[in-house]
Amino acid sequence: MPDAARHVLLSGEIDKACPFLKIYVLDGGMGAVNDLIDVRVDDATSEIQELIVGLSEAPRVIPTVYGYDERGSDLYARICDLETYYPYRTEWELLAGNIDSICGLVKRDEIVELGCGTATKSELLLRRMSSLSPESLRYVPIDVSEEMLMRTSARLAGSIDGLEVWPVAGDYHSGLKVVEQRPEASRLFMFMGSSLGNMSEQKRHELLTGIRSAGSRGDVLMVGVDFDKSQSALETAYNDPPGHDLWHHFLTNRLACLNRLFGGDFDPSVFQSRLNYNTEACRMEAQIWPKVDVTFTLPELNLRGVIKADERVTVDTSHKFKEDELDELLDAVGMRIMESYEEPSVKYALLLVEMT
Ligand SMILES: C[S@@+](CC[C@H](N)C(=O)[O-])C[C@H]1O[C@@H](n2cnc3c(N)ncnc32)[C@H](O)[C@@H]1O
Repeated sequence: MPDAARHVLLSGEIDKACPFLKIYVLDGGMGAVNDLIDVRVDDATSEIQELIVGLSEAPRVIPTVYGYDERGSDLYARICDLETYYPYRTEWELLAGNIDSICGLVKRDEIVELGCGTATKSELLLRRMSSLSPESLRYVPIDVSEEMLMRTSARLAGSIDGLEVWPVAGDYHSGLKVVEQRPEASRLFMFMGSSLGNMSEQKRHELLTGIRSAGSRGDVLMVGVDFDKSQSALETAYNDPPGHDLWHHFLTNRLACLNRLFGGDFDPSVFQSRLNYNTEACRMEAQIWPKVDVTFTLPELNLRGVIKADERVTVDTSHKFKEDELDELLDAVGMRIMESYEEPSVKYALLLVEMT
């Protein structure tokens, strides 16, 4: 049975039970991890549809979401350790260097993080916030990568006293619907790692609208934003430095992920990869291409095709914002910037955005 179908069953069972049932509490008087809420069933149809359209004809596209199976998530975590990859390091430094100011402005009893990954940056904030208040703090991480989500949840609950973790496996939108149905709370939403740039303009609008409806007036969104900069700086950061091949495997691993999910026969080893900056669109474009013609079949999707030698397949994009580009969008969805922590040397900002 393909994973997508297994998730449908899993999710169906969980939906019928009490979704917020607490199943185990870690020993040692630390925090607690609640039952996983799996909402991937709601996403499967549209994600698969997007994949079928993307792979059916040139210019071919594999949606970003297929980059984050267990191996893809691990590879991304290792990319974050590369000296050249400034977004992770910069965001970490902005958060650590301004943590008192942030905690002064953001007093929340629930933190909802979209695409938590390893949550090593959020951990700084969760630790500080829980040390400042005797009340227990709730953390609701949402991520498509179930394995990473559960590892992160267990690590945080196991090491932060009084932290209650409510993991949600699924797409941002389905996860936000779960949050919307939860009891009202004052919330901090986090969307880190410049992930807002990984979506089209329309999807950015839809996502911010979804966050706004899951939140209430006065709630805050913390978001990492990467600005337009020189092509060479970006291409250095988003490609493997000499002696490394993490980016390459991160990008071509999507083919292995499709093989596993849909019974496919891609051979990732015949593909090359590169991230280029499209200066007109202000967008990093991650592409893979085969050295020879490749015939592929994805039987579970009834899909068969030929990718010609050197034909580019886009597997990820990352928009780099112009100054003030976000203001209009935030205004349109009922939000406004309340504080901006910036690192001018690499043109990166951590924004606190208030819901109006
Ligand atoms: C660029 S990483 C950022 C991870 C972490 N927030 C950080 O700042 O280091 C993106 C994360 O979002 C998750 N993700 C990607 N697309 C998603 C989607 N559509 N819905 C939910 N999670 C998604 C991935 O599994 C991954 O953990």
